[in-house]
Order: sequence, then C-alpha cells, then structure tokens
Amino acid sequence: MFERPRGTRDFNPSQAASHRYVERAFRRTAEAFGFREVLTPTFENAELFKAKSGPGILEEMFTFKDKVGRELALRPEFTASIIRFYNSELRSEPKPLKVFTLGNCFRYEEPQMGRYREFWQWNCEIIGAPSLESDSDVIALADAGLKRVGLMRTELRIGHIGMLRKFLAFPQQDQGILLHLLDKKRFTDLRTELARLESEQFFDVVSSVAQLKGGPEVLDRAQELLGEAAKESVEYLRMLGGQLALYGIKDFVYDLGVVRGLDYYSGMVFEIDSPNLGAEKQVGGGGAYILTNVLGGEVTSSTGFAIGMDRVVLSADQEGIKMAAKPLDAYVIPIGQAMRPKAFEIVMQLRTAGFSVDVDLMGRGPSKNLDYANSVKARNSVLIGEKEVAKGAVAVRDMESGKQIEVAVRDLVAALMGGTETEVRKPGRKSTRRAPKP
Ligand code: HAM
Repeated sequence: MFERPRGTRDFNPSQAASHRYVERAFRRTAEAFGFREVLTPTFENAELFKAKSGPGILEEMFTFKDKVGRELALRPEFTASIIRFYNSELRSEPKPLKVFTLGNCFRYEEPQMGRYREFWQWNCEIIGAPSLESDSDVIALADAGLKRVGLMRTELRIGHIGMLRKFLAFPQQDQGILLHLLDKKRFTDLRTELARLESEQFFDVVSSVAQLKGGPEVLDRAQELLGEAAKESVEYLRMLGGQLALYGIKDFVYDLGVVRGLDYYSGMVFEIDSPNLGAEKQVGGGGAYILTNVLGGEVTSSTGFAIGMDRVVLSADQEGIKMAAKPLDAYVIPIGQAMRPKAFEIVMQLRTAGFSVDVDLMGRGPSKNLDYANSVKARNSVLIGEKEVAKGAVAVRDMESGKQIEVAVRDLVAALMGGTETEVRKPGRKSTRRAPKP
C-alpha cells in the first residue's frame, strides 16, 4: 500500500463536488465583476518567488532542480506568476486589467485542519488602475464570492501597511523581518530584532498599533501613536470606508495589525476570517502592492486577493450549506437481456438532450437496480420493458414518491423535465419548459 505525501488529500466524489461548488460560485462572481480568467504554470523558476515574497514564503517553498540543474519551485501563490505574465505579455492590454485564476498552490507548512501542503486558491488581481476604487472593487468581490457560496459568518478586517512601513523606515530586508514577526504576532522576537537594530524604543508604539482593532476611532489612535507616518494611510482608510459603503459593505472592522505574510504589499491590506474554523480561520487576504517593477517591468499599481478554497469548503460545511453534486436525472433499467440495446439507445437520447443519465452496466434484475437507483439518489428510474416498448413507451418511476407512469418514448424528454408528477403532455403540444443545457 502506498501513502499520500504528507499534507496532501484525495477528494472523494462528495468532497470533489463541494470543491467544484465553491469554485463555480467564485468563477461566476469574478465574471459578474468583469474579471477574466487566466492560467499560469504550476511551477516557475524559483527566482520569481524569491524576488519579493518575503521570509515567510521562502521557508515554505517546494523547490527542486530539473535535469540540467535549473532551480524550480511549485507555486506557493499566484500573484508573482500573474505579474510575471503581465510584464512579459499582458502589459499592452487595455487598463485596468482585471484577471482571476483558480488552482492549486504548494507550501511546506506543518499540516493540520485547514492547513495543507497542497491547497487551492481563488486569486483575483486588478492591474494598472488607481487605488481607491480598485481596492474597494476587490474587497467587494471577495465579499460577494463568499456570500455567493452562502457563508453568513465572516469577519472582514481592513488595515494599511503604509503606516508601519513609513514608521519602520529600515532597509528593505530588516523591515521585511520586522513585519514578518508582527504578522506572526511574535512580539518577543520583534523586541529582540528591534534591539538588534538599536531601535527598541519603537517596540511599544509598534506593538500597540498592531493591536488596534475597531471602528473609525482606531484610526485616530493610530494617528496619535505614529504621528506623521500614519497621516496618509489614515486618510485613505477613511475614504475607503466611504467607498465600501457604496457597495453596501459596512460590516467590517479596521485592524491595523493586518500585516500580511507576503512582502510586496504597500497600501491597503485586508483579511477575512471565518469564525466557524479553528486556528486556521483566515479564509482570504490581499491588498494593494507594486510588484511589476521588482519583476523587471514598469511601476504599475495593483491590488488583489486570494481566498483559500479548502477553508471555505470547511466553513461552508460548518454552516450546513448543501454543496452536493446534482443527482442523476434518470437511471435506465433494461428489463431482460433483449431490452438492453433499446435501453442504450434511450440513454444516449437523454444524455444528448442534456440530462445526466446512467444505465445498468451490471446486468442486475429490476429490484436490485431500483435499490441501486435509490442509493445513488437518482430522481427517476426509466424501466425498459418488452410490453411497453412494443407500444413505443417506457415506464418512468419518480424515486421519491414511488409513483410510476407510462410515457411514450417521444415524450420522455418533456416528462423528465417536468418530473413524472406532471402529466405527460398530449402529442403535438409543445412543452414550455426548456431542456437543461448540455
Ligand atoms: P495568502 O494570505 O498567503 O495570500 O493566502 C491567501 C489564502 O490562502 C489564505 O488566507 C488561506 O485561506 C489560504 N491558504 C494559504 N496557505 C494555506 C495552506 N497551507 N492551506 C490551506 N489554505 C491556505 C496570497 O497568497 C496572496 N497572493 C494574495 C494576493 C493576491 N494578494 C494580492 N493579490
């Protein structure tokens, strides 16, 4: 017996259906907001992620060498790939460029509930538009995506990394380490690191700011603590609050401790938690950043986010959201060997009309087949019997009510559309209901 690599999962049909349900909700929401899908490689040159992802991600990368010794990495996230793609091929597209992607990412983390080494993200970016309205558009998109899944209990926290970057004006690498420690709330290490930089006096202010969370009053408090360094960020956050109200988003808190685990953020930052989950309750996060120039292009402002689909599925499960796959419309049961060719003919007619239909492949008797249809939760069984076929008909059984009626083969599509409870239409009268899309 072989085992899966640590931190990976198999998805059984019902888990896969939940995953696809969430994916569908996210894809439709992105399209509703005018985003278009892109796809990027699962692995990249490792250098790409080293450029500006920050110490957190570097420790967690799956890197490997190819046969000629090039260092590659499984993508730990999408943003760097999308910006690489933008710089090399998409930069002449009309602005703003609004793109999304859905796929698996890899991080070498300690696995636990909600934290995996292979996980899935829904990632959205707006590239090349001025910040305020783009920032609110991506926050509203993240919020709408979670609502479309059906999640009722989420907490949106919005901050601004600009004020801490201004206040902790150390060389980039040192600043990266300080922000990483703040992100992980490792305050003792933060004090030690500030002491190493001969700036321990900043500790009280920085740790107090990182704990400010609440309504607009926390913006005043940040201004008091950080002075000039906070001015622009605080004004921006106030305006963002006004802009979000236009989307009907009022239910959020300012959280000046949102630092984010990645190094490229420069402006507004946000995170969304699901209180349904345990330690790994952050379902998504993002913010404004500039990465184009770090990856060899021109300075272009961008903003975006990623939502962890695995955590959304866990959270939706907790809220009792039904994510099961659509059941079979019909299970076709030939009665006796001689009826099998007719059964397959009917199966293919119904499949072509857009129904999901299965057929007995085991050569079982009718009652075993009805048990099977029940166990796979088929909505109807279509029984193909010699007597009915001789009349150009079949028997359709509604599996929920158990009611069985005879239906002319030419009326079968209409009967399945209305369910067997509706009367079979008279010949020549057109059904007003449309067949499902194939
Ligand atoms: P991130 O916060 O690193 O941001 O990841 C986004 C989300 O991915 C997290 O909030 C979490 O739900 C999920 N996630 C991360 N690691 C794991 C894991 N090991 N297992 C399960 N889920 C996980 C980014 O990746 C940025 N690229 C977002 C972004 C896009 N910012 C701007 N544009």
